[in-house]
Amino acid sequence: MQKQTRQLSTIISGQNTSDGAGVKLKRIISPSPKNSFDPFILLDEFGSNEPTDYIGGFPDHPHRGFETVTYMLAGAMTHRDHLGNEGHLRAGDVQWMTAGRGVIHSEMPEQENGLLHGFQLWLNLPAQEKMKPPHYQDIAAVDIPKVELDNGGYLKVIAGDYLTESQTITGAVQGVTTQPLYLDIRLSPQQQLNIPVGVEHTAIIYVYQGELTISAEAKLLKTEQLGQLVEGDNIQLATQNQSAQFLVLAALPIKEPMVQAGPFVMNSVEEIEQAFQDYRSGVLTL
Ligand code: CO
Repeated sequence: MQKQTRQLSTIISGQNTSDGAGVKLKRIISPSPKNSFDPFILLDEFGSNEPTDYIGGFPDHPHRGFETVTYMLAGAMTHRDHLGNEGHLRAGDVQWMTAGRGVIHSEMPEQENGLLHGFQLWLNLPAQEKMKPPHYQDIAAVDIPKVELDNGGYLKVIAGDYLTESQTITGAVQGVTTQPLYLDIRLSPQQQLNIPVGVEHTAIIYVYQGELTISAEAKLLKTEQLGQLVEGDNIQLATQNQSAQFLVLAALPIKEPMVQAGPFVMNSVEEIEQAFQDYRSGVLTL
């Protein structure tokens, strides 16, 4: 069957902001009632060579109603939650946390070899899964399937399946209702890559190094730009004289009302008020 190539419809640039205890970060997707990137709610890039930019970290805070996906490119992150779970993410590791009905946790970044760089994505849950028990998947870098591309390029399949002409690469995270595809890719100069995606899926690309051209029209996506790609079942990418490093995210939209307030993402204002009330009275996680 003839493939249809997705076209770049929207480009947005990250905004510098701070969150937690004064952690400087770039907010690429901000939660918004328009929910333009459904089911993706938020995408942050954090990274700095200055420890004072992030040393306060993200002290104890709650979440309800969605999933947080933390992916470290460099440096480390120590995670502790209300149940006493503790995890230490290092370069290349992923934590896929389903907050469900409630998690209270801290996330404390650390440099390694003077470096810190990573991403946190918020992925929405459908109404019927918002109150499910919390769940963690800690995935070590070595357990993330990696495809070697020409001239030092690579493609890591963090979640979902990546289909080539000849094989299917099964990603580390499976079984999420919105069928997320989460790829981290490096293309060397003068390369091309096609990525099949579901026709119904929301699809976005964030370039964190270099620049990419999108589709046969060769529209340019530059460093620190996020592009949304619409209509089709194939993403067509290429590099020109520069290499590029970028995330590809795709998932089925949930198409439900979304109300976000601080660390809670629910379907209605009443459910948000309930979450705050549960947190204040100490029953958020019960
Ligand atoms: Co958090």
